[in-house]
Amino acid sequence: MTPPLAGERSQPRVFVTRRLPGGALDRLASETAFDLWQDELPPPREQLLRGVRQADGLLCLLTDTIDDELLAAAPGLRVVSTMAVGYDHIDVEAATRRGVLVTNTPGVLTESTADFAFALLLAAARRLPEAERAVRDGRWTSWHPSFLLGRAAHDATLGIVGLGTIGQAVARRARGFQMRLLYSSRTRKPDIEEELGIDYRSFEELLAEADFVSVHVPLTPETRHLFDDDAFQRMKPTAVFVNTARGGVVDQAALYRALASNRIAAAAIDVTEAEPLAPDDPLLRLPNLLVTPHIASASVTTRERMAELAVENLLEALAGRKPPHCVNAEVLAQ
Ligand code: NAP
Ligand code: GLV
Repeated sequence: MTPPLAGERSQPRVFVTRRLPGGALDRLASETAFDLWQDELPPPREQLLRGVRQADGLLCLLTDTIDDELLAAAPGLRVVSTMAVGYDHIDVEAATRRGVLVTNTPGVLTESTADFAFALLLAAARRLPEAERAVRDGRWTSWHPSFLLGRAAHDATLGIVGLGTIGQAVARRARGFQMRLLYSSRTRKPDIEEELGIDYRSFEELLAEADFVSVHVPLTPETRHLFDDDAFQRMKPTAVFVNTARGGVVDQAALYRALASNRIAAAAIDVTEAEPLAPDDPLLRLPNLLVTPHIASASVTTRERMAELAVENLLEALAGRKPPHCVNAEVLAQ
């Protein structure tokens, strides 16, 4: 390799764990020397460890586990930029201790994710997957007054768990459906209560009152298995449960029991505890479960914006500036 000329700085080295949509990688190519993992599937652990060994920056996805062992294997690493808002796949405490910035991509995916949560809510309420299967299987024999009756969303009560950016965007959509709105969250938000016409409830009160429950909390030690047998027991037998947050927020065995026993009416989930969900998972035998493969943010424009923001975060950090979205800004003061 030709050494840099006097006064010329060599480009930072970056490892990127998957091809990204849009033109984000073109920008990265002009400002860094990067290695790209070309496969459709995530790099196996050994390849990830090898990829970061010489790297100044890592651009990763939520499928990559960034733990202390990986950070230790990357002594030159200055930034981990994930193309996601959720960063539960990163050991942020270890990164902070090692002086590594962690960045994420909030905001740009809010509307697409809220659209999708609402699509799941309506699809589960009105039994879209069952209805479509009935047509394909030749079971549409006649219009019938009680064929495939679902639950009306309009005028029903929606309980939002985690009234952050996406939770609020879901609430705005629900207003258009004349839904009554409740929320539980870590902190009360009087201004938003006023603006959206949404009432605060304790978690337990919300479960008891809501016809629909939609989850929008991050996965943290406090929220892991927030939805367990006890939570599902507290819900109405007619309730529909929607999860576009993280699979780990739900005890999946408890969800199975609640659906199989008709303790709750239906669920629509975009996320599962293990991803991908195994094809022989018992959940897939339930007619009252709708499951999608973690695609709530997957619109063309949103994924392009997420990739651009992930690159922007990475480049700003490598330039020694504060990135637009940094989850451990205290590293900058170290
Ligand atoms: P956000 O703006 O940070 O909102 C999260 C909300 O959860 C905040 O209001 C927060 O309370 C609340 N919260 C945090 N811990 C809590 C706890 N222990 N109990 C109750 N409430 C708690 O994040 P966001 O942009 O809305 O995203 C939310 C999550 O959605 C992400 O973390 C990610 O896991 C998931 N997500 C999934 C997809 C997908 O493709 N399926 C796409 C995007 C996002 P405070 O107001 O007190 O901070
Ligand atoms: C997707 O799940 C995200 O956290 O962006």
